[in-house]
Amino acid sequence: MPERPYTLLSCSVSIDGYLGDQTPRLALSNAADFDRVDEVRASCDAIMVGAVTVRTDNPRLLVRSEARREERTSRGLPSTPMKITVTDRADLDARSNFFTTGEAEKLVYTSSPRVADARARLGPVATIVDGGRRVRMRRLGEDLAARGVERFMVEGGGIVHTQFLADDLVDELQLVVAPFFVGDSSAPRFVSDGRFPWNARRRARLAETRQIGDVVLLRYALSPRFRDE
Ligand SMILES: NC(=O)c1ccc[n+]([C@@H]2O[C@H](COP(=O)([O-])OP(=O)(O)OC[C@H]3O[C@@H](n4cnc5c(N)ncnc54)[C@H](OP(=O)(O)O)[C@@H]3O)[C@@H](O)[C@H]2O)c1
Repeated sequence: MPERPYTLLSCSVSIDGYLGDQTPRLALSNAADFDRVDEVRASCDAIMVGAVTVRTDNPRLLVRSEARREERTSRGLPSTPMKITVTDRADLDARSNFFTTGEAEKLVYTSSPRVADARARLGPVATIVDGGRRVRMRRLGEDLAARGVERFMVEGGGIVHTQFLADDLVDELQLVVAPFFVGDSSAPRFVSDGRFPWNARRRARLAETRQIGDVVLLRYALSPRFRDE
């Protein structure tokens, strides 16, 4: 069985555990933490977000720092990591920043019945990958490993987080807590309902806490492969 990449899940949440509110791109973090995330991105081979995040936030998912981009190209890598998304509806705009920015490859995983539709809509701007009857994150990780991805960053949203965490596919969790509440139960949460490997009887290992201005970074080691870098 192909190995999956080292998988790092990174996100920021409000004190009450929300990923955002009803507006796009709620800034939960601060400038210093955005720069830290940029450094983590620069160290990865691929970055993934779910289709709702592509639609609502229109993220570019690039490495912002020129020095970090140059450092990558000096190592023979594209200046920013490969971009990955997953969708069933395939209702994504080919003009969105996900597809139009960055020279690295963009991969769209979808279920077998949706492949033709996804290729018709997004074929010119991305590689459409047949994820099987239903896209499973374990298989997606194995496919990425087969494409040479060794270090993989998952950046949301909650539906995607839930599948990676519940299937025990995350080696490292980087959770940033912002100093405010969202207070709206219809807003997206860090994760939705699920059976997670860590519970009251099996606690996750907290590897580091770091204050970054007014936010705090919590780093959890979720597998024996955790690398304290
Ligand atoms: N604070 C942070 O760090 C952060 C980071 C990222 C996102 N966010 C926020 O999170 C929110 C979005 O999160 P979300 O949980 O609603 O959605 P999401 O995880 O971004 O995307 C979910 C979508 O991905 C596709 N998908 C997921 N698993 C799939 C599977 N196994 N097979 C096929 N398709 C699959 C489906 O797309 P289709 O609907 O196209 O079929 C699904 O509706 C946004 O408000 C965004 O701002 C916050």
